[in-house]
Amino acid sequence: LDPGKDLFQEIERLKREKNAIILAHYYQEPDIQDVADYIGDSLGLAQAAAKTEADLIVFAGVHFMAETAKILNPGKKVLLPDLKAGCSLADSAPAGPFRKFKEAHPDHVVISYINCTAEIKALSDIICTSSNAEKIIESVPADQPIIFAPDKNLGAYLNKKTGRNMLLWNGSCMVHEIFSLEKITRLKVRHPEAKVIAHPECEDAVLRVAEFIGSTTQLLKYTQKDSAQAYIVATETGILHQMQKESPLKTFIPAPPTNNCACNDCPHMKLNTLEKVYLCMEYELPEITMEENLRLAAKKPIERMLEISR
Ligand code: 13P
Ligand code: SF4
Repeated sequence: LDPGKDLFQEIERLKREKNAIILAHYYQEPDIQDVADYIGDSLGLAQAAAKTEADLIVFAGVHFMAETAKILNPGKKVLLPDLKAGCSLADSAPAGPFRKFKEAHPDHVVISYINCTAEIKALSDIICTSSNAEKIIESVPADQPIIFAPDKNLGAYLNKKTGRNMLLWNGSCMVHEIFSLEKITRLKVRHPEAKVIAHPECEDAVLRVAEFIGSTTQLLKYTQKDSAQAYIVATETGILHQMQKESPLKTFIPAPPTNNCACNDCPHMKLNTLEKVYLCMEYELPEITMEENLRLAAKKPIERMLEISR
């Protein structure tokens, strides 16, 4: 790729020429967020994908997100800049063992977090995201047993919030499990004015010290409206770009991971780069494809979610 090319300009040209839209998750690198037409959390992205009139959807996120966009748009081309951008949480629920788990509890309704494969969606009754999960759970009668998959941390948090006793699949996100309570506590001593805010995929010990818990969009909105001047943010670091843009005078400190690694950066999300966004638009590859029966089965629980979240 010619290093003299202005990728921002080239991407804008390709958008016009191909009637393309770029949907990006908050965990994408800042440059990608800056060329995106829509940046959002998983629910916002699914809703944007459901109503777009573009011919080409460039999904700057991970595989399950692009897959959801394809499920909702069978006639459109959906591109993922790097096909290897997976998700440890989605990987923690393989379809075979999950089918057996479901068969062992035939009286349970299955609510699955959107961070799962199309196969798991096809085995689910309703999909939820971290921003609508309570509403989705409350749409199910109180005496109806529920399986919640794949995130055990989000599931335990929701059991606490809703007073249900959902049966939890044992999955988790490698990024949200890495935060160190000890280091967060130490940071809080150095910055007593900073509020800890966290994503519900974090472990219970971190959620207990958080003053606000929410999806990425909810965390961002909270920092815009709240009066504090500093925040320790326990989620993937990509969200700090929008937080800082929206509130330039406030301080945002990424919650530190246990090891001295950059593991609060999602290695899957960060596989996408601006260069790969450009290349995938130019060559219309890699494309998400799906077998039609699987797509139709996975579509039902997503549509139920969209209906309830209207
Ligand atoms: P939300 O953006 O829906 O909060 O999800 C966070 C996440 O981990 C996506 O992979
Ligand atoms: Fe999956 Fe966690 Fe990365 Fe989100 S942050 S894509 S849940 S591994």
